[in-house]
Amino acid sequence: MSKVDKKALVRLAIEAMKNAYAPYSHCLVGAALVAEDGSTFTGCNIENAAFTPTICAERAAFGTAVSAGHRKFSAIAVAGGKDGVLGEPFYPCGVCRQVLREFCADDMPVYIADGEDGILELTLADLLPYSFGKEYL
Ligand code: THU
Repeated sequence: MSKVDKKALVRLAIEAMKNAYAPYSHCLVGAALVAEDGSTFTGCNIENAAFTPTICAERAAFGTAVSAGHRKFSAIAVAGGKDGVLGEPFYPCGVCRQVLREFCADDMPVYIADGEDGILELTLADLLPYSFGKEYL
């Protein structure tokens, strides 16, 4: 995926969502991340009976991508909904927004599934304005 095809990326996120392990919240979430070289990585949320070890789909995708040696990304798509029903956009949580901030530019597109066919297109800066990052350290 050299030039980011947002529809294809959202489809990958929807496919990843189907593997979500969410027996407690029943919120199924998938994410698809594009690395700078065009390779794609997906993740789903993985819940835990102790609750706090739960990992979000976006961070699962970053875990796989960074473990494979990628540090720069050009887009992410997120799809989610209660019982996997794609209704209202399922926005990335605050923790995931901060993880995006570690590896992605402010103007990086974040595509969020909006219903069955819609795509809400935001940037990281839209989701996390006035943010803190490594340049402050
Ligand atoms: N969740 C995600 O996977 N990504 C987000 O950005 C928001 C929340 C998951 C975590 C948990 O399994 C479920 O959605 C309900 O919070």
